[in-house]
Amino acid sequence: MCGIVGYIGDGSARGIILDGLKKLEYRGYDSAGIALHAGDKIEVRKKQGRISNLEEFIANDPVDSTLGVGHTRWATHGAPSDINSHPHCNGDSTIAVVHNGIVENYVELREWLIKEHGVKFLSETDTEVIAQLIGVCYRGDLLDAVYEAVEKMRGAYAIGVIAAGEPDKIVAVRKSSPLIVGLGQGCNFIASDIPALLRHVKDIYLIENNETVVLTRDQVTIYDKERKEVKRDVFHVTWSAEAAEKEGYPHFMLKEIHEQPGGIEETLTRRLSPEGMIKLDGISLTRKELERFNRIYIVACGTAYHAGLVGKYAIEKFARLPVEVDVASEFRYRDPLVDEKTLFIAISQSGETLDTLEALRDAKSKGARILSVVNVVGSSVARESDDVFYTWAGPEIAVASTKAYTTQLICMYLIALHMGLERGALPMEEYKRILQELLALPDKLRKLLETEPDIREIAWELFLYNKNDVFFIGRGNDAGVAYEGSLKLKEISYINSFAIAAGELKHGTIALIEPGTPVIALATQDALYEKMLSNIQEVKARGAYVVGLAKEGNQEIGKRGNANRVVYIPRCPDEITPVLAVVPLQLLAYYIAKFRDCDIDKPKNLAKSVTVE
Ligand code: G6P
Repeated sequence: MCGIVGYIGDGSARGIILDGLKKLEYRGYDSAGIALHAGDKIEVRKKQGRISNLEEFIANDPVDSTLGVGHTRWATHGAPSDINSHPHCNGDSTIAVVHNGIVENYVELREWLIKEHGVKFLSETDTEVIAQLIGVCYRGDLLDAVYEAVEKMRGAYAIGVIAAGEPDKIVAVRKSSPLIVGLGQGCNFIASDIPALLRHVKDIYLIENNETVVLTRDQVTIYDKERKEVKRDVFHVTWSAEAAEKEGYPHFMLKEIHEQPGGIEETLTRRLSPEGMIKLDGISLTRKELERFNRIYIVACGTAYHAGLVGKYAIEKFARLPVEVDVASEFRYRDPLVDEKTLFIAISQSGETLDTLEALRDAKSKGARILSVVNVVGSSVARESDDVFYTWAGPEIAVASTKAYTTQLICMYLIALHMGLERGALPMEEYKRILQELLALPDKLRKLLETEPDIREIAWELFLYNKNDVFFIGRGNDAGVAYEGSLKLKEISYINSFAIAAGELKHGTIALIEPGTPVIALATQDALYEKMLSNIQEVKARGAYVVGLAKEGNQEIGKRGNANRVVYIPRCPDEITPVLAVVPLQLLAYYIAKFRDCDIDKPKNLAKSVTVE
């Protein structure tokens, strides 16, 4: 969480850094700040709240500079406040630090700094400890001081540091948290993520773990842990700056919902040969490799975890291999049975989620083969995996994930189909049939998106209902989608929602259904349709207000005594309905949140990229 940006060049550091921070607001947005090198001093401006607050604050007290670092915060240590905002400085404000991550031994270091060096702390943050520590280590050379300080720090972090005495330098360090360097003409940048720099540069260096970078106006030097210089290839970004703009939509989330047909098309076509076969381009999932595996784990967080639930269904169905799905924060600490016969599949939009990354590292150290499904090219998860399946969703900015999820599903289907064919568990005919059905999804999705006004109307009804609890139920593949629909609703509208496998409802949760309780019932699985109708009857009998989701042609769900409102999705095989079924749920969440006047793209307390445990 948190986003950092740094700039050194001839332009206005203030404008460039503020602009970059706005592009990183998805990483945290409870406060923001900037440190600028001015004359022989460092000037800091920081403010609780959004970057717009900071902008206003700076406008009233401007500083001009061509060197600086900035930060947008998602609070970990100390509540959001002006004082706890970054950048943080040492005692005489000659060192300023921006930081993304956590210093685990900060209490110990803080006590040591107070006791041994008489340091006085102003904030409750771990970041101030870094600034004070570098200050104590500083004897005229910032790079020396940073190396000395980092030696004493434990945790996962990316930092950007400037010193009053060195007007020609930014020093940055990466330890687990993401860090990139943008390479300009007579200027250079640091940032937590690519969108912050897209307006200025397309050539970047991806900084690796335990590396330190020194940036001057004309030069970037990367050092390893032992301070040996490291050569790095330039990574050229192909995303356009516009891809990270709203382009007329009121919110990124709505734009991204509408980008799904294109993202799915791109993800599919990049993986299909002219003969209509899935091409793996170097990914080692041959028959021989697959024979080696006796266990598959899919590990992820949040929405990506929900994509994993659907992935499990697909792999078990098409490839007949047992799959376990786990949230990364649990997987890591339950001593899972991982060895060289394990295939570990990590799913992550950002490729930087710390729990997912650490689970991956753990599995790798135990000999597992690592395959990842990732959206951000060159991200940590991608780089540390043996093989990568990219989701070609383009930049996803809204905190609530939409297009990353549907493209993750596509990747999971491609992986499952390929495994099925290679293992001889899936006949060629069936493989081809499902692939054709996948290729038909973008157009079906475009058609489904035309029902947006109807879904908006249902959202309006639910909004007027003003209920504080909503339930999502479904069976089989629909259960996985129900979890995702429920997460979308709660994260952006702040309504308490709960998803449960419909058959499990009667074992407790049904006690909460009262007259008027909204229940979103997913009944898109032909094989389970009758069973779902019974479950709908059970909640209707207790007075629930039911919004049903079914395939076109399955009209009984809307007949008297069943759902109050129904959304129909185009017909497709049960195995791949999640790609369509989730979309009305995304729109429902979007419009309910809109009617409730919520901050849709930046919901409270959340961040898009969670780089803390
Ligand atoms: C956060 C985001 C979610 C996302 C999850 C996992 O919680 O708000 O939208 O699904 O992290 O992120 P990842 O980048 O690993 O997919």
